[in-house]
Amino acid sequence: MKVVRTVDEVRAELAPHRAAGAIGLVPTMGALHDGHRSLLRAARQAVDAVVVSLFVNPLQFGPHEGFSAYPRGEGADLAVCEQERADVVFAPSAEEMAMESGVTTVTVAGLSEIVEGRARPSHFQGVCTVVAKLLNIVRPDVLYLGQKDVQQNAIIARLVEDLSYGVSITVCPTVRQPDGLALSSRNAYLSSSQLTDAAVLHRALLAGRARIEQEATPEEAEREMQEILAAQQGVEPDYARAVDPHSFKAPKDEGPVLLVVAARVGGARLIDNLTAHRARG
Ligand code: PAJ
Repeated sequence: MKVVRTVDEVRAELAPHRAAGAIGLVPTMGALHDGHRSLLRAARQAVDAVVVSLFVNPLQFGPHEGFSAYPRGEGADLAVCEQERADVVFAPSAEEMAMESGVTTVTVAGLSEIVEGRARPSHFQGVCTVVAKLLNIVRPDVLYLGQKDVQQNAIIARLVEDLSYGVSITVCPTVRQPDGLALSSRNAYLSSSQLTDAAVLHRALLAGRARIEQEATPEEAEREMQEILAAQQGVEPDYARAVDPHSFKAPKDEGPVLLVVAARVGGARLIDNLTAHRARG
């Protein structure tokens, strides 16, 4: 496994791999957990060369969103990458990736401004700008993303299509604790009792899904999820929505409904989602 720090090094390191077969990119902000591992494993099985990026992207954090407090631990991250047999780890310095905030930007309008984007203005612009840059640096054949960040995935898919990146996207299922809590680097902020409380996000989603499967309206499912989140001590709900999986607006009368929730637990803002299928369609 080769650890590289500069754009030139990535390009030099990947040249022989590019000639030999398919390159997969797993973009991450480090603090790797079993959710990230599942992406690395999926990549290892499918492509010839696995590239992992470790970069806490300042552009996607709002002024009070804890950029400096975000968990960092390169030693442990490199050990995970090694165990999962990554070929190249791109761990650039802030200077190497430096982009002055708000100057050169990549925006997927519309989708970036609703639901999670409404709660975090300019977050998805920060994500798109760094992902566009990483795609240009690595030029992968396959991009590996996790279902946990479903709106991010929809936005990146649109970015890839609209800017003709020619990369295919593989979305891996959300990895959860036994109690349903989705693994997240931000869980590191929580005490053990807060971790237990946080499992309410998944319970709310399960209840919302059951409602949709029983042909309740999206509004009824939203109300149910809100109530469950609000009833949990130590949890401050942000939103609980039932949306169309493509537009993230009101669901159509038939077809799948995407349930998305966000809540603050202690010092962490957590998000999760689940897809519900209706009997019709
Ligand atoms: P990060 O939060 O580190 O996540 C990196 C990737 O791991 C994302 O695609 C995310 O969906 C996936 N992931 C996180 N938790 C997961 C879980 N429990 N199960 C499965 N996959 C999971 O998302 C980002 O970083 C950044 O926004 C990034 C795309 C790297 C741009 O900076």
